[in-house]
Amino acid sequence: MSKVSVIGAGQVGATAALYLAQMDIDEVVMVDVVEGVPQGKALDMMEAAPVLGFNAKVTGSNDYAAIEGSDVIIHTAGIPRKPGMDRMDLLKTNVGIARNVASEIMKHCPSAKIIVVANPLDIICMAVLRATGLPSNQVIGQAGVLDGARFRYFIAEKLGVTPGDVTAMVLGGHGDQMVPLKRFASVGGIPLDNLMDNGTIEQLVARTRTGGGEIVKYLKTGSAFYAPAASSVQMAESILKDKKRIIAASAYLNGEYGYDSIFLGVPVVLGKEGIEKIIEIDLTSEEKTALDKSVDAVKDGVTQLDTI
Ligand code: APR
Repeated sequence: MSKVSVIGAGQVGATAALYLAQMDIDEVVMVDVVEGVPQGKALDMMEAAPVLGFNAKVTGSNDYAAIEGSDVIIHTAGIPRKPGMDRMDLLKTNVGIARNVASEIMKHCPSAKIIVVANPLDIICMAVLRATGLPSNQVIGQAGVLDGARFRYFIAEKLGVTPGDVTAMVLGGHGDQMVPLKRFASVGGIPLDNLMDNGTIEQLVARTRTGGGEIVKYLKTGSAFYAPAASSVQMAESILKDKKRIIAASAYLNGEYGYDSIFLGVPVVLGKEGIEKIIEIDLTSEEKTALDKSVDAVKDGVTQLDTI
């Protein structure tokens, strides 16, 4: 029996729950503070089951006891930034929510692997790790799959090829300072620089860095959810099925890449133990400088976290 619980039944959470239901997962639970919302969305999803042909049991609850027995938890609960709210206000609220979620996880399913989606991502990961006291392999931030997927899509769109044939990796913090590694991007096994000039690649790198903001500009009252949900579900699948996929995720570093005690997007092997390995690749001095900059941005966030 496989069970995944999604905390937060909002845009990302409910979309993730539907994607999960459509995979061969036995049980999907949504938990939210708003009464009726997780229950209503779960019932709506179950009513889609005969049409979509899935067998998963989807339920919704306002009680964290429902997460008991989960193999994986996807943490999406939080508030988006509202007009007039500064980053610190957002951080305070979402850290408070994350700490509460962390204590509920420790009460009901301390062995679950936790995939963090709530923003600011790398900082919320740190808050969850500290609040749970779990080994760092159990707390994994969803950022690299999404940022990589955006880069992959932009490349595919530009070349007019199928997105699934494009591979690419994005390292660093989940913010504008992220580091899309153009050197490792390829299409059907062909290195990207054989298919596109550097100027075009740089344009796509820049678009990737601000990919989240581009969606917010369109939506106005919310942020992206289809791709973030799909990305977190792909990570959950790799854990549940012990697939050992190599993907970029926000992982707690203990000296890897020369950084210590910080969550950062790096390539990892994802299996039933969560992060089973952090892969260290040789970076050029240009890439390392960009990563250092990204680390500085994450460290600023951790300094703020220390005051909450
Ligand atoms: N416990 C459970 N659910 C909560 C809690 C809590 N303490 N606090 C808030 N929530 C719920 C809200 O009721 C809401 O349903 O979290 C949900 C968040 O959903 P949305 O507002 O739709 O936000 P969403 O677009 O899903 O984004 C969630 O993911 O990508 C990130 O930046 C994004 O941090 C944000 C998160």
